[in-house]
Amino acid sequence: MKKLIALILFISIPLNAASRLPVRAKHVMVASVDSIASRVGADVMKRGGNAVDAAIAVALTLAVTWPEAGNLGGGGSMLLRNADGTEEAIDYRERAPLSATRDMYLDATGNIIKDASLVGYQASGVPGTVAGLTLAHKRHGKLPWADLVEPARKLAAEGFPVSEYLARSLTVKRTMERLQKFPESWRIYERNGRSYEAGETFVQPELAATLARIQKDPSDFYRGETARSIITDMQAHGGNLTADDLSRYQPTIRTPLHSTYRGYEIITMPPPSSGGVALIEMLNMLEPYDLGAMGWHSSEEVHTIVEVMRRAYADRAKFLGDTDFVTVPVKGLMARSYAEQRRKDIDAVHASDSKAVAAGEPTRYESPQTTHFTIIDADGNVVTSTYTLNESYGSAVTVPGAGFLLNDEMDDFTSKPGVPNTYGLIQGEANAVAAQKRPLSSMTPTIVLKDGKVAFATGSPGGGTIINTVLQVIVNVIDFKMNIQQAVDEPRFHHQWLPDKISWEPFEFSRDTNDALVKMGYVFAEKPDSLGDAESIAVDPKTGDRLGASDPRRGGMAVGW
Ligand code: DON
Repeated sequence: MKKLIALILFISIPLNAASRLPVRAKHVMVASVDSIASRVGADVMKRGGNAVDAAIAVALTLAVTWPEAGNLGGGGSMLLRNADGTEEAIDYRERAPLSATRDMYLDATGNIIKDASLVGYQASGVPGTVAGLTLAHKRHGKLPWADLVEPARKLAAEGFPVSEYLARSLTVKRTMERLQKFPESWRIYERNGRSYEAGETFVQPELAATLARIQKDPSDFYRGETARSIITDMQAHGGNLTADDLSRYQPTIRTPLHSTYRGYEIITMPPPSSGGVALIEMLNMLEPYDLGAMGWHSSEEVHTIVEVMRRAYADRAKFLGDTDFVTVPVKGLMARSYAEQRRKDIDAVHASDSKAVAAGEPTRYESPQTTHFTIIDADGNVVTSTYTLNESYGSAVTVPGAGFLLNDEMDDFTSKPGVPNTYGLIQGEANAVAAQKRPLSSMTPTIVLKDGKVAFATGSPGGGTIINTVLQVIVNVIDFKMNIQQAVDEPRFHHQWLPDKISWEPFEFSRDTNDALVKMGYVFAEKPDSLGDAESIAVDPKTGDRLGASDPRRGGMAVGW
């Protein structure tokens, strides 16, 4: 009898090794990197707002409480699926200024000008965040715009307690050095000559004033006083953004990409992000393999996934760019027949050599910081969005009097073909700089459906590693039947074709697995890394409950009710 009871308990309690359970709530859920922002989003929905209203309030709050990536001066990708099944992607990616040219980051001898695309006044694309959020509100918002800006404005005006993570990020040597180059930035982020400590109150009066102007009229950012502050500062420092650049900026509504993986439907971000195309290409290549039978993180499973990553990233480097400017073989790269052909030379027991794995031949041509949040409202509308300044604290330039940082997104372009960018990504001609073009992104906000209903939604920061983080969350849920929290928590790895090595997380691989992979010919990065921050939400298929899974890597929080 005892045995029987033990057996029943064993069968009925799902096992969640070394992982918290997701946060469960009946109606709404917000998963973001910052507890204050998640609470703001849940509260907006208490007041009758929908997921888009909450997303706007969360994004603006992160611009105050998570300044390394939350932003007014950057851009992003937003994927929406409404409860009625309609969906769209809002591309609010930065655009290159009108003065931008293909070789703008090269000196007279053709070499890259150090840091020009990463630090200072030449590094910024035209910011898209304010226009993107405004467009989302116009199309889907329920609550007045001003009410959605208010929590962020108040937090900037009255201050908020600095989190452990923010305090730590401000003491990173490279961040301090970059911020110190720009007196207005250093004035804001230092306190009496030192960095803010966790728990201290951080007040940002200039940012509060900017938010108050945007609250009254969001076009102030592109045509009003805020725009004038940006331009004055740019002119004073030989910067690249002009009044024309700002007034012309428009976000774009795009059609999300669709595919399937083992009976699940995958909805994800189209170009100018490379994320969706590469994700679908990788899932297509993986589908014929029984990853579940190989065992999670067995050498065979890691080998199979790395080979797939290697091939998709080689294709990313060659083919992907802004589809408004270059022809990208999106359908060719996402075709199952292409995946079939692409995986043919994966050897069962040996690592490939990236030098020998060039990009494939898809059918042509048919006509350190970012942050991610995911939201589901009471009606079942889903918003999943990644937005960014690119690196932590962007270009390190703060617009004087306006209190916000500008992005260094121009580094996502190909400064010089074949030379890696800040994420070590090799990029090609398709992603060359051109006026008004959008730099290629890896942002991969993704929604997964089962039987026509939302199963989960996810996304992550992490530069070039983003796509592989999203891939592994999906594989963990679908192939290894993990709950959403465990799928997010488990250590991840990353391979991006070049450099030809596997990035990994602390304590990820047993000595045995490690040795087996080295024997196959793999090289591991010398030191472990932290890969991404996959702020995710699942829906319980039986009860409809929202299951929030904030990623433990950056101290975020899921809040629901
Ligand atoms: O759009 C992109 O792919 C990059 N600018 C994202 C940067 C990023 O994720 C940095 N975060 N950790």
